[in-house]
Amino acid sequence: MAKKLFIETLGCAMNVRDSEHMIAELNQKENYELTTRANEADLIVINTCSVREKPVHKLFSELGVFNKLKKPSAKIGVTGCTASHLGEEIIKRAPYVNFVLGARNVSKITEVLHRNKAVETQINYDESEFAFKEFRSSPYKSFINISIGCDKQCTFCIVPHTRGEEISIPSNLIVDEARRSVERGAREIFLLGQNVNNYGRRFSGNHKKMNFTQLLREVSAIEGLERIRFTSPHPLHMDDAFIEEFATNPKICNSMHIPLQSGSTAILQQMKRGYSKEWFLDRVARLRALAPETFISTDIIVAFPGERDVDFQDTMEVVEQVKFDQIFSFKYSPRPHTEAEHYTDVVESAVASERLSHLQAIQDAILDEKSRHYVGRRYRVYFEELRQDGYIAGRSDNNLAIRVQGSDALLGTFAEVEITQSARLSQIGEIVVA
Ligand code: 5AD
Ligand code: SF4
Repeated sequence: MAKKLFIETLGCAMNVRDSEHMIAELNQKENYELTTRANEADLIVINTCSVREKPVHKLFSELGVFNKLKKPSAKIGVTGCTASHLGEEIIKRAPYVNFVLGARNVSKITEVLHRNKAVETQINYDESEFAFKEFRSSPYKSFINISIGCDKQCTFCIVPHTRGEEISIPSNLIVDEARRSVERGAREIFLLGQNVNNYGRRFSGNHKKMNFTQLLREVSAIEGLERIRFTSPHPLHMDDAFIEEFATNPKICNSMHIPLQSGSTAILQQMKRGYSKEWFLDRVARLRALAPETFISTDIIVAFPGERDVDFQDTMEVVEQVKFDQIFSFKYSPRPHTEAEHYTDVVESAVASERLSHLQAIQDAILDEKSRHYVGRRYRVYFEELRQDGYIAGRSDNNLAIRVQGSDALLGTFAEVEITQSARLSQIGEIVVA
């Protein structure tokens, strides 16, 4: 009889893909099947994120809960970024954990399963780390890694420590994986990397050299593939050729996540981001000139050490000028193994909270204003989710989350939808009968 696997995935899309790979490995080599009930699982895996401190605290309370409700024979594994940076400390603090497997080591899941108290967190790598097995959370779209690790040294970020140095995956593997996904019915692919537009800087061996713009062209030649998305590009590497390809290639979706982090050039320098406020605004202007409808989302950190009122004002200026379609905003959280951890000019917590609330209030007003314009407009939607409330949900090319009443026969198909009701980050519409 098949054994049961319960897996919880925190963090980013890279983690989602890592979880898919572990699910496939466990299924093919160890006959595990997924369950959504932790209490009936034979193996519980938490695939963790460590980008901010809060989820790390949460991990230990969650582990305690799983330990109480699990079957006595069930194993618990901690994988992902927190596993990478805490390593055996996890087993010291939660001795019932059976194994710890870093973000760069997920291919070893079936091996550590049989070594009690195994801790695998090293950053060396072989090509098995990107020969990911086939399991897809969605039959309609596929996440595909194009690189692993990160070579940047943003002073706030733990990821280079947890995921190691950046290696681009050979383009032929990426194109093959995308082609196989399309053959199995996915019409959208999502290319993943910490810095996608830095693609091609370092390969593991003697592989065909190409940059991200060229990779996009190769992937878009796949017949039957209709949509390409990617995350995340780095503002520094947004050259004109990339923006032009983005704007003119009909398969590339009209949506881009461009992490700003701060609008203050002084703070950007402290963060070692490599660009200025002006450069960021210039790139957005170039993008909007060529592709005016582009949905632009961003990440912003407030209260980075040394952030003065004038710096925060710079961030707000960028927010008000760009009018992002979505902002993921965070209070700065000091992380181990980062340079900024040692910065002493910490911003007071009350000031940080105030700045975050202010930013979010302004952004809400911007989105309220934007959402008024959606009603009555028509978008081509790719339906991918049957929601619990009975709606069928999907996304427009420009990344609006749109749902309609309809049957699940719509899943995996495209339809023209007119928006009838609009809220900040979700739209309701009706399919327009031709
Ligand atoms: N504190 C707060 N936010 C952070 N991020 C990364 N590191 C930190 C940190 N130390 C945010 C960045 C990044 C997103 C994934 O998380 O905005 O783009
Ligand atoms: Fe993803 Fe970064 Fe979180 Fe790791 S730390 S899971 S790379 S967001």
